[in-house]
Amino acid sequence: MPSVDGENALSPNPSPARGRGEQNESLRDSHVKADPHPASGCDLLIVNVDLATMSAPQGYGEIRDGALALSAGRIGWVGRRSDLPAGIRAADTFDGNGGWITPGLIDCHTHIVYAGNRSSEFEARLNGATYEEIAGAGGGIMATVRATRAASEAQLLHQSLPRVRSLLAEGVTTLEIKSGYGLTLESEAKMLRVARTIGALLAVDVKTTFLGAHALPPEYAGRADAYIDAVCGDMLPALAAEGLVDAVDAFCENIGFTPAQTERVFAAAQRLQLPIKLHAEQLSNQNGAALVARHDGLSADHLEYLSEAGIAAMAQHRTVAVLLPGAYYFLRETRLPPVQALREAGVPIAIATDCNPGTAPLTSLLLAMNMACTLFRLTPQEALAGATSIAAQALGIASETGSLVVGKHANLALWDIGHPSELSYAIGFNPCRAAFQRGILRQNKPVEAA
Ligand code: NIG
Ligand code: FE
Repeated sequence: MPSVDGENALSPNPSPARGRGEQNESLRDSHVKADPHPASGCDLLIVNVDLATMSAPQGYGEIRDGALALSAGRIGWVGRRSDLPAGIRAADTFDGNGGWITPGLIDCHTHIVYAGNRSSEFEARLNGATYEEIAGAGGGIMATVRATRAASEAQLLHQSLPRVRSLLAEGVTTLEIKSGYGLTLESEAKMLRVARTIGALLAVDVKTTFLGAHALPPEYAGRADAYIDAVCGDMLPALAAEGLVDAVDAFCENIGFTPAQTERVFAAAQRLQLPIKLHAEQLSNQNGAALVARHDGLSADHLEYLSEAGIAAMAQHRTVAVLLPGAYYFLRETRLPPVQALREAGVPIAIATDCNPGTAPLTSLLLAMNMACTLFRLTPQEALAGATSIAAQALGIASETGSLVVGKHANLALWDIGHPSELSYAIGFNPCRAAFQRGILRQNKPVEAA
């Protein structure tokens, strides 16, 4: 097996994104230089597998009896085994034992770093309270803010790691992690450092998102604009200077921030050339999706209350719709996101867990895919694209990962399935046998005897 070396090692502190769809100049250069025909050699040749390349807008991109050659952590060759270039030499060969390889899954929206849990609010909701009522009484997001502020960095890491491991066991090779439970410079920095540490410790690609505009902290009660001043003027520049921010998000909602306040956060992000995203139209229509689209944001997320104007703006600006069926399910929301209208408008649809203690204590992206099909009526193919190639678009890293294409990172998942539709079909079953993280094997399970 290939071993970790300087070039393959995952950077715990990648440089900030320069713009939509591209990570940075150096990565773009290395992408261009990747050799599409490694006639002489590669680190690893994977054979005896079927491939779902997810490389075209429609379909799975199926290649039966395929092969993948990996070089320096990237995909050097992909195609049918019978088309392998004559004379290709591999330092090592991996027998996929008839399994399927897909791109490694990408969870493009999580709040997975937090302390404590909110099972008592779950109980309160089952006794009749609503999510908004609990938030209004000082619970909800603020309960997690108190627990997260009180936790040491080590405690926060210790509590978050098992949740991330649960995602990794299902073939996740990239996840987004938001801040937003600190709401001071110091505690937002603590959350984002924990996110970076998770990436380095578990060797998974982590994209961080600063969500300082998640809720109004009690110190600023009645002074939301002053808090937004602090978010834009103090917190974001300092965190970005530390290399802790890959993107910026806000919660545009009755119980969050107004569109005008959200727009100020976007302006601050764009001054620092950081990409933006938005929690939009989750509980009501604030026209947040159109706002983030107009600012050329990467994605608008949730979208149960999305309007026709919002859809049109997203289609015009190619803003990704990130659907979060776990939150819809857990809040027993009854209003569905307008999936058919999004489809018809050609808006790309991603799926994520939204893993968080209040609205989606969910650490299974496979279950989110299943829910996207059962609750939102996505097809299994759409759900897999939503958790791979389109999730990569939602993070602005589609040129680097999310599909089995020459030059992209060798982030792969190996499944014991007969067809990729099984990934969305099964409920609570994990057929992931192994994953490759930038070419490095992460074995999950032994091969079952036939
Ligand atoms: O994505 N909507 C805002 N943020 C989270 C919920 C956070 C919480 O309740 O702790 C979400 O649903
Ligand atoms: Fe969220």
